Amino acid sequence: MAINYDDRIPNNVNLSGDKRLQRALETWQPAFLDWWQDVGPEGFQKDDVYLRTAISTAPGGWAHFGHVKMPDYRWGIFLEDAVPDRRIPGGDHAGEPVWQEVPGEYRNTLRRIIVTQADTEPASVEQQRWLGKTAPSMYDMRNLFQVNVEEGRHLWAMVYLLHAYFGKDGRDEADDLLARRSGDADKPRILDAFNQPCPDWLTFFCFTMFTDRDGKYQLGALAESGFDPLARTCGFMLTEEAHHLSVGELGVERVLRRSAQLTKLDPNGDARAQGGIDLPTVQKWISYWFSYSLDLFGSELSSNAADFFGAGLKGRWNEAKDFTEHRALDQYYRLPVVKNGSVVEDEVPLRNAMNEVLRQSYIADCQRVVKRWNAALEQEGTDFRVSLPSSRFFRRQGIYAGHDFNREGDLIGSEAWQRQQDEWLPSAADRAYVASLMHAVTEPGQMAHWIAPPRKGINGQDVAFEYVRHA
Ligand SMILES: [Fe+2]
Ligand SMILES: [Fe+2]
Repeated sequence: MAINYDDRIPNNVNLSGDKRLQRALETWQPAFLDWWQDVGPEGFQKDDVYLRTAISTAPGGWAHFGHVKMPDYRWGIFLEDAVPDRRIPGGDHAGEPVWQEVPGEYRNTLRRIIVTQADTEPASVEQQRWLGKTAPSMYDMRNLFQVNVEEGRHLWAMVYLLHAYFGKDGRDEADDLLARRSGDADKPRILDAFNQPCPDWLTFFCFTMFTDRDGKYQLGALAESGFDPLARTCGFMLTEEAHHLSVGELGVERVLRRSAQLTKLDPNGDARAQGGIDLPTVQKWISYWFSYSLDLFGSELSSNAADFFGAGLKGRWNEAKDFTEHRALDQYYRLPVVKNGSVVEDEVPLRNAMNEVLRQSYIADCQRVVKRWNAALEQEGTDFRVSLPSSRFFRRQGIYAGHDFNREGDLIGSEAWQRQQDEWLPSAADRAYVASLMHAVTEPGQMAHWIAPPRKGINGQDVAFEYVRHA
């Protein structure tokens, strides 16, 4: 369905056909803009940024590119087209017609699921608000702002659902989404990874690679929901999300390439002596953000996950397309667990392992990227290879939390952990070193010393294009 840009709130849901809903969202809109000015990108609100804006939700060719001031970005409500005669993909109701209204018995659960997803969207904008000031290039600065405005758009997507389907409770939740703050001691964001600071660009690239990719899998599970408006909302968010993931993947790849080049250049093979980030340090950032993002999937064993799947509120990744059996009853999942001080395999009911099933889809996706990174390292002529640690390593949630594992996933004592954690994860000195390299490069086409240039620009433009024009 075409997007209507004549309304104050751009949309493809015929918003003007529901005056009460339209008025409620038009009341929320100035509060959103205040939030954006308060904690959105710091210092660039008057600049013209080369941004893409959605013009249709049809696959391919949906974006318009042009210079826009961020506060003038047309945030709106865009749902994927409805699939005629769509059926509930998974769970106890598999095969029944999808719901266009919230089923009463799932109302609270569904609201909780939507709020938890919604909360991550403004949180990431808050986490990244200072990064514009140290962008390694104009190209990168533009990508950061594109990600930021689209996370704002994702908040709109979720707030629409809350307003349209959850009455007063939903409107209160929408207000709370603008009241919580990432990292705030009194009113923090809901999930831990979204309260972590994002102080440098290596963190930003790892965050968009690993944490936004968790978002991809959460949205994918919700795109399989029996609640059709949620499924259609998430379907379109996924197409926007793909750009965020490529910013992360290609960003880390460019750091790796530059690190390899500087290592070769130095007589002692020391990239830091050449003013770059050394490869082992990049590996530590990868390990940290991969592990942090694994926590976001929830516990390996979860009765909530079983309930969400059984109710048809969430599916597995590509539930409708990739599976033939959709009830997941009387089936078991093999899972390594800690018993009497060692790791042994256990068999658990499949529905209770649905978080882990989704996490494994995510890990396989991350592995594909790691392969591409290593192909880049090979091209650069280094023997160094990056890798993902075991999914038991450095976990703070789920059945492995509270135990110490090495990168291979073997149990080690807490003393061994204390001794070696700085070899595996960013130390205070590593963080200070990486932070010391963060200086803005504002000449179009120029790159900070520690990162390789991208292979191509945005939307067919040159890398040296003026992606951000200062006011
Ligand atoms: Fe998002
Ligand atoms: Fe994202």
